[in-house]
Amino acid sequence: MNKLRVDFNRPVIVGREMEYMAEAIANAHISGDGPFTKKCHSLLEQALSVPKALLTTSCTHALEMAAILLNIKEGDEVIIPDFTFVSTINAFVLRAARPVFLDIRPDTLNLDESKLEAAITPRTRAIIPVHYAGVGCEMEAIMDVARRHNVAVVEDNAHGLFGKYKGQYLGTFGVMASQSFHETKNFTSGEGGALLINEREFVERAEIIREKGTDRSRFFRGQVDKYTWVDLGSSYLPSDLLAAFLYGQLEQRERIQSHRKALWETYNLALKDWAQKNSVQLPTIPAHTEQSYHMFYILMPDLDLRQKFIQYLRDLGIYTVFHYLPLHLSDMGRHFGGEPGDCPVTEDVSDRLVRLPFHNGLSNSEQELAIEAILEFGF
Ligand SMILES: Cc1ncc(COP(=O)(O)O)c(C=O)c1O
Repeated sequence: MNKLRVDFNRPVIVGREMEYMAEAIANAHISGDGPFTKKCHSLLEQALSVPKALLTTSCTHALEMAAILLNIKEGDEVIIPDFTFVSTINAFVLRAARPVFLDIRPDTLNLDESKLEAAITPRTRAIIPVHYAGVGCEMEAIMDVARRHNVAVVEDNAHGLFGKYKGQYLGTFGVMASQSFHETKNFTSGEGGALLINEREFVERAEIIREKGTDRSRFFRGQVDKYTWVDLGSSYLPSDLLAAFLYGQLEQRERIQSHRKALWETYNLALKDWAQKNSVQLPTIPAHTEQSYHMFYILMPDLDLRQKFIQYLRDLGIYTVFHYLPLHLSDMGRHFGGEPGDCPVTEDVSDRLVRLPFHNGLSNSEQELAIEAILEFGF
């Protein structure tokens, strides 16, 4: 018997991914920085008007590159929202930085910019805002604090490709930004990421760090006779096979984004009255932001109802997930001095958030099934 199943996420082919992967093999260039990597770089640079985009093996690795580029060293403080994925800060802790966990806004779940200035000390070196769900952080206020204190901003834009804040693309505000092309993202190569570089002074060193600390890029441009070890670095460049897959996805960006917009709006409309009646919070999208339609989340009234809701849907074959656990209460967060009560909004939201099925392959009928089931949940 076919049991009903609505996946939380399911990667799907949306365009010419398979054809491009075959082409990459025919090109006899499946290591990094082949023709498809270059196509992805140009597409991102042109679409976003950024001086440089470099594909990486993950968003985590793009953030690691940013930490090396900023010369983060022991004792430097890095401010991050408490409600984020571990990589946002782990990349900097790898350089021996000390994390400073800032609480989030209860509406957009983004870093609370009103608390930012008080968190700055003479040791603050970087602020890493995360555009949660692809809804822009208050970048005007964040950039103002950063400028006044001479602190770098690196946007963790894992969720927000093609989203905008006040008409400007997310990922183009700070000195750099990281993107993710992990399976759960709007555009994917399974695993993958990119570093967007907004200040040209970082470009040459970024190429070196990405190529194991060698000046191989200069060599390929004919600027040096042989390439050698010149700096710190690692292997952060993806295979051109992955770039070929990703290019097939990025090419279809308008189609992908309009499908996701339609899914998002359908959930929002269908759940509006239900949410209001049952004290469930739906996402807040400020009028001055254009979201990237990365996810649809809801905030249940409390932890107990959240757990029951997830189980109830799972029993019906409908898969939802929660995230993130407050970073300051993780083992590592505790090690850095995190205590219960430090970030009350994050602690509360983390208990109540549920992400609904949302992906490029989600059909209207699957979404309808999910919505019908949600509306019948007994509070
Ligand atoms: C906000 C944020 N930053 C970074 C990452 C890490 O991305 P990746 O898996 O591409 O390393 C994630 C993963 O989902 C994320 O949600």
